[in-house]
Amino acid sequence: MNEYTFPQGFLWGAATAAHQVEGNNVNSESWLLEHLPGTIYAEPSGDACDHYHRYPEDIALLAKLGFNAYRFSIEWARIEPEEGEFSLAALDHYRRMLATCHEHGIHPVVTFHHFTSPRWLIRAGGWLDARTPDRFARYCERATRHLGDLIGAACTFNEPNLPMILSKILPFSPQEGPFWSAAAQAFGVAPDRLGLFQFVTQPQMREIIFAAHRRAYDILHAGPGNFPVGLTLALIDVQTGPGGETEAAVFRRDLAEVYLEQLRGDDFVGVQTYARMVVGAAGIIPPGDDVEKNQMGEEFYPEAIGGTIRHAAAVARIPVIVTENGLASTDDARRAVYFQRALRSVAAAIEDGIDVRGYFAWSALDNFEWVSGYVPKFGIIAVDRATQARTPKPSAHWLGAVARANRCAF
Ligand code: BGC
Repeated sequence: MNEYTFPQGFLWGAATAAHQVEGNNVNSESWLLEHLPGTIYAEPSGDACDHYHRYPEDIALLAKLGFNAYRFSIEWARIEPEEGEFSLAALDHYRRMLATCHEHGIHPVVTFHHFTSPRWLIRAGGWLDARTPDRFARYCERATRHLGDLIGAACTFNEPNLPMILSKILPFSPQEGPFWSAAAQAFGVAPDRLGLFQFVTQPQMREIIFAAHRRAYDILHAGPGNFPVGLTLALIDVQTGPGGETEAAVFRRDLAEVYLEQLRGDDFVGVQTYARMVVGAAGIIPPGDDVEKNQMGEEFYPEAIGGTIRHAAAVARIPVIVTENGLASTDDARRAVYFQRALRSVAAAIEDGIDVRGYFAWSALDNFEWVSGYVPKFGIIAVDRATQARTPKPSAHWLGAVARANRCAF
């Protein structure tokens, strides 16, 4: 066994997203989509983990386990529930959350947009509307003015490349079913103007989101506070199988590089990885039946994070934070193995000179996994859905101990 000590000041944390844990995010577009007749969501988010009220207990628990950082998102639909109407109560809530992090020695990494948007934004054209960068900039300005002095690091957007991944790999095309027309009707827009962040693949969406990112980057840097700003991407480790050189290069370009290139000059890129994809001459080679898989049907392959860190750093040429990495499984022993093997590949990347500044497990809590509902278990802390009781799993103790020591044995 080798012992590896991570760089001084390395961030060790776990991550969540507001809609997946807070509960009752009723002004968001997702709440509406979850309740549409014929919805593609397995179940509604409901109370989720009631993190909106239980964050003091959750943050204290992360600190007690040994973590020094927590990545969470603030919810635009709560902060600006109607266009131009800002909720001071919601802003104060997130200020208290940030203060709680500091009281526990936890470095808060704040995501300004993690998939969900206010309903009014989607009615106004959402992420297909050219006015949305201005709207996002106004929200970021208001939120930063209230919270900036307590923020440790910020991600403007979470995974703007996800819809591309879903459509090219699964393929997942909700646009083609009755759900899409029902949703368009509910928001009062034409089906081809339904600008849902998680599902839209029209090319202008990328331009709109990156215009919004650029505006937000400058606003967040204007203070108050002085913290690094980046954006996170969903990155799959695309590996070349027999004869797959050209095909694999196309996947790498379309799913990752066209986004990574836009991040040059940012303070960091948030790398979020769960699996690999092997591409041969005829396209994606699916993992065999005998291969271990996670609950999402992907191959159990913890080393994927090493590949994506290297790719992201080579293309974006900026520091990396692993803002999400983890395993959907009911077998927590496999999660600990996953973390250990993943960390070995993170350590190897650092040893090769790549500037990696932190590692965040997805997720702190068993939470609402979007269209899949509450079935997938990504959490290092179990949540009893009837009582909301929290129970750290053995993997939480294992990763927390690594975090406290800043050291891992492989
Ligand atoms: C997202 C999370 C999601 C996780 C697991 C990432 O795509 O940022 O919101 O729960 O992956 O699927």
